Amino acid sequence: MIDLDSLRQAFANRFGGEGVAFFAPGRINLIGEHTDYNGGFVFPGAVTQGITAVLRPNNSPTVRLYAADLKQECSFDIMSEEGPAVTHFRYIYGVVRELMAAGVMVQGFDAVYGGDVPLGAGMSSSAALECCFANALCDFFGGRLDKMTLAKIGQATEHKYVGVKCGIMDQFASMHGREGALMRLDCRSGEFQYFPWHPEGYRLLLVNSCVKHELVGSPYNERRASCERVAALAGVEALRDCTWEELETLKPQLSGEDYRRAYYVLGEVDRVLSVCDSLGRGDYETVGHQMYLTHEGLRRDYEVSCDELDFLVNEARRLGVTGARMMGGGFGGCTINLVRNELYETFLAEVQATYRARFGVECQPIPVIIGAGARQL
Ligand code: GLA
Repeated sequence: MIDLDSLRQAFANRFGGEGVAFFAPGRINLIGEHTDYNGGFVFPGAVTQGITAVLRPNNSPTVRLYAADLKQECSFDIMSEEGPAVTHFRYIYGVVRELMAAGVMVQGFDAVYGGDVPLGAGMSSSAALECCFANALCDFFGGRLDKMTLAKIGQATEHKYVGVKCGIMDQFASMHGREGALMRLDCRSGEFQYFPWHPEGYRLLLVNSCVKHELVGSPYNERRASCERVAALAGVEALRDCTWEELETLKPQLSGEDYRRAYYVLGEVDRVLSVCDSLGRGDYETVGHQMYLTHEGLRRDYEVSCDELDFLVNEARRLGVTGARMMGGGFGGCTINLVRNELYETFLAEVQATYRARFGVECQPIPVIIGAGARQL
């Protein structure tokens, strides 16, 4: 991980002088997976890990970038129709182009950036990158776009420049995060509420399977297409508006696969609401139970899990962890675990040992602190 001082130093070495530092976080999601692009509910929170960039306008049409962690550089003209080929630079190119399309008078700039969100862990390192630059460039170049619009600029970047047809959850969380609070977002209306997250007696722990998670070119878009087919047949704009009865009526017309995908989504939308009720009562055991149900749905019906993630969730269950499930888009990445304080150390030690014994590689425990959203440092 590269700290702010090193980034400032790298900026001075490369471009001379000083820039302004901005940060945007990655996110966790307590529950509500693959519901965002179905107009449903999600329940994320920003984390303290994220992307930090030091930037300065350079009075030219050229953007010059240096990714300090990866030791890679790139430059492009803001009017370029093509942009860079390397994916992580394309995120920034996409943000520049989308801001310009939204009327922000973006000019050339120099930037050095790095971060501590593990890449491909399902913690939204790409949303952190998009939101860090969207927020910084909007600020620099006099844009007056609100947080939700900036989040949508990040999402449009994924769609148009990287080819992942993601929902709004990750960029929303990165922009709107608040210390010590999770957020329930209604992805259809855009309304959201903060829920204080101070689970007395429990802690959240991510366990990174270290199976590389890569949504670009993954079956993520196919999942979305299944949902859209079912919604179209049901005559609703988004699957969230399809009822259980309608789904059963449509069943004979659906492929088994599309039916299972929709079955999972309808259940998951219900689970988010049930978790909110349980949280209101301080009933973390029921929250945890719902997390296990989500994992089962993601594994069996949505089919976005993998052996390593299933193993981590089964271990959590075996060791008495309150709730566990795979988190994010799937196909690798992390599990999220709600663990009673007294079990925390035992779980940590055991799961690392058994994972190593089973797969011959290390998993990576990542403690979670719920932090604030995108900001200037
Ligand atoms: C990825 C996407 C999100 C969301 C999750 C699954 O993180 O970027 O929009 O769909 O997967 O919940």
